[in-house]
Amino acid sequence: MSQETTLFTPIRLGALPLPNRIVMAPLTRNRALAGNVPGPLAVTYYRQRATAGLIVTEASPVCAEGHGYPRTPGIHTPEQVAGWRAVTDAVHAEGGRIFLQLWHVGRISHPSLQPGNAAPVAPSALRPAGQVWTGSGLQDYATPRALARDELSGVVAAYRQAAENARAAGFDGVEVHGANGYLLDQFLRSSTNRRDDDYGGPVENRARLLLEVVRAVTDVFGADRVGVRLSPENRFNDIADDDPQATFEYAARALAPLGLAYLHVLEGDMTGQSAPAVDYAKIKAAFAGPYMANNGYDQARATAAIAAGRVDLVAFGRPFISNPDLPARFAAGAPLAEADAKTFYSGEEKGYVDYPALEQ
Ligand SMILES: Cc1cc2nc3c(=O)[nH]c(=O)nc-3n(C[C@H](O)[C@H](O)[C@H](O)COP(=O)(O)O)c2cc1C
Repeated sequence: MSQETTLFTPIRLGALPLPNRIVMAPLTRNRALAGNVPGPLAVTYYRQRATAGLIVTEASPVCAEGHGYPRTPGIHTPEQVAGWRAVTDAVHAEGGRIFLQLWHVGRISHPSLQPGNAAPVAPSALRPAGQVWTGSGLQDYATPRALARDELSGVVAAYRQAAENARAAGFDGVEVHGANGYLLDQFLRSSTNRRDDDYGGPVENRARLLLEVVRAVTDVFGADRVGVRLSPENRFNDIADDDPQATFEYAARALAPLGLAYLHVLEGDMTGQSAPAVDYAKIKAAFAGPYMANNGYDQARATAAIAAGRVDLVAFGRPFISNPDLPARFAAGAPLAEADAKTFYSGEEKGYVDYPALEQ
């Protein structure tokens, strides 16, 4: 009799054999040092979580224009590469595996966070609803500047260079952040892309920048060390799509022939504004490679989804903030600690490296 597949069944993810299917989801924590350099606290934080099957780091901006929040660790200066090198060395010393999430926020920024106080860039000059943390408190988002067509190759080049930097920093691979209303998602989804060139209009055009970026990054790392994150229904950052099923099935089908390590899908809407309408089984089928699910999973739901073959791996976000040894807790059936939302984005050590592991 064949044994049931569980969270603890090893899996091969592209080039990497994983000892379990419990992935640490990317989590922005805003603890970088001056110059947006990951510091010693980040080394401790990621080392504590090295028993994850795979760690996907917090999103890391690929260039200065890609920043939209204070103290987010970038991957575009030598100091940042050195800071990340200490993180990957620590995770590898513990026997873990770690991918860097590559980020460009696009319009989710503010002139005060941009080089030369310039307007943030986006597919189209559409101002997001909402407010952004700046050096002088919360301010309304600004109207972004639409990227000219001849600037887009420069965006792709920034991702390519960032992937080179990630390789120099010792990462096992990278995840392209195509989710959550940031630049690549702004191109992909219809509400934020009103371009009339070959990067706007039909989904074949809206997906073009994502595909160009993913191909550039696979040139650097090899496709079997590259994942992509998408969020078909997430309304976070004032974004939506007229037909998420068609848009994201197309994207998954277009990514399929590249032979990527995995597709990571944030299922549903973190903001709770829209009722679930996407059939994720169809997106999984269109991609045809390893499918990593996320958003609100607990051990029981994850185990059932894996046993049913509906998903291959599950990424856990908030549970990994407060349970550094999450796989051991799942294995032992031990209670989980609750994450304190007040220290998600600030607090230095507090709420970052002071959640204890289980007693031996
Ligand atoms: C504090 C915090 C920071 C986050 N930062 C990122 C990020 O950098 N990149 C990303 O793709 N998602 C980010 N997310 C979303 C999480 O990866 C994940 O999708 C979300 O927490 C839902 O999963 P969960 O229910 O397991 O927590 C963040 C979420 C939280 C709570």
